[in-house]
Amino acid sequence: MTLNDKVAIITGAASGIGKATSLVFAREGAKVLCADINADGAEATARQIADTGGEAASFKVDVAEEPQVQAMVADAVSRWGRLDTIYNNAGIGTFGPVTQMSVEDWDRMHSINLRGVFLGTKHAIPEMLKTGGGAIVNTASDAGLMGTPMLSAYCATKGGVVMFTKATAVEWAAMGVRINCVCPGVIRTPILDPMLEMAKAAGATPEQVWERMGKTHPIGRVGEASEVAEAVAFLASDRASFITGVALPVDGGLAGGFAPRESAFGAE
Ligand SMILES: NC(=O)c1ccc[n+]([C@@H]2O[C@H](COP(=O)([O-])OP(=O)(O)OC[C@H]3O[C@@H](n4cnc5c(N)ncnc54)[C@H](O)[C@@H]3O)[C@@H](O)[C@H]2O)c1
Repeated sequence: MTLNDKVAIITGAASGIGKATSLVFAREGAKVLCADINADGAEATARQIADTGGEAASFKVDVAEEPQVQAMVADAVSRWGRLDTIYNNAGIGTFGPVTQMSVEDWDRMHSINLRGVFLGTKHAIPEMLKTGGGAIVNTASDAGLMGTPMLSAYCATKGGVVMFTKATAVEWAAMGVRINCVCPGVIRTPILDPMLEMAKAAGATPEQVWERMGKTHPIGRVGEASEVAEAVAFLASDRASFITGVALPVDGGLAGGFAPRESAFGAE
């Protein structure tokens, strides 16, 4: 097991990528604090881990609020005596043209997607230093590497996560803290439910939407949360001991360039 006895915090653990990563971390031997603003969902993830013989607890947190993030880190340390890893993953998305975006929506997205990563990093590092170091993984996105229409605020936050990751990685590398981020492509999780609803209103089924989006990825399909989870577990583990400051696409080749025309647009 690659994360044996490591103590980990995972935010956004109630759903999607955070939930899948919690399960993979536990499978790999980590003790996992499943943190989310959705307390019931976080508790359900922790219970699922306990039911399969793993060790986990849940914590209700709004990652945008500094006292709550401090309390989350303190909870993990008081429970298990140390902190080896934090996966700053909680995030939200909104979809629409920049001309229709309110200042409130812009600020809310930045406070969760970007400030949340900053706060998790700020309060985890001092605990990691007490035991000689640790590993931080953040969730950015392919939208942090490439401009994406109708996602300007989201792109801004995720581009910020990529550069925050690189800056903090070089700042703390010599002290034994590795900091990397993953850049998922389109992953089949509830964050995309509003988009499925829009497509439904236009007469498309969810499967048609996934298939269409999958064709924009060179590999020919969208990703699953568990596929991101495996990459995060690797970056958090000692197997990635010489890797820091990386923004790793987990995206079926999407960030690599254009998909072949026939797979992007169909045979027609
Ligand atoms: N699904 C994709 O296609 C995709 C692609 C690239 C990046 N991402 C990123 O992956 C991360 C996880 O998203 P997901 O796809 O699993 O979506 P999801 O909606 O399934 O999960 C997001 C989780 O974050 C939690 N959360 C939201 N605001 C919070 C807050 N203020 N404090 C604490 N928790 C909060 C939610 O309750 C939810 O459990 C996000 O950062 C998202 O931007 C997703």
